[in-house]
Amino acid sequence: PRLLLLNGPNLNLLGTREPDVYGSATLADVEDLARTTAEAVGLELRTVQSNSEGALVDAVQAAREDCDGLVVNAGAYTHTSIALRDALAAVALPFVEVHVSNVHARETFRHHSYLAPLASAVIVGAGVQGYAFAVQRLATMLAEQSA
Ligand code: DQA
Repeated sequence: PRLLLLNGPNLNLLGTREPDVYGSATLADVEDLARTTAEAVGLELRTVQSNSEGALVDAVQAAREDCDGLVVNAGAYTHTSIALRDALAAVALPFVEVHVSNVHARETFRHHSYLAPLASAVIVGAGVQGYAFAVQRLATMLAEQSA
């Protein structure tokens, strides 16, 4: 089984971007953590990061061909993108939504997610460890599915 780790806009700047909010781990650190966590439970991991909404939609659509679930941190598109929500609804794969920061402790425009109603789980405010939790949750769900 294979997971897609999808990171949206500005997450390429992790580690240097507002470190008081997002910490010091880089995107490469996040991808390594997610891959190590996935491989430990027998899953493959593909990673995509894009700053473009359309590229994220394309990546979700492509996941239908060869992935079994997704970990999604859509960054600010979480709060704006009906297109990304529609793509996730269309592929109908289980996904876990992750936010490094506790969005509920921040500006009110970050409190609403277009994606959350479709998500299997939402993990916010756990720092980059949230990505590892998300991978583990999907591994459990996929194991239960195939049992
Ligand atoms: C974020 C939270 C979003 O509100 C913000 O736009 C981001 C990062 C997070 O991981 O905490 O880009 O998704």
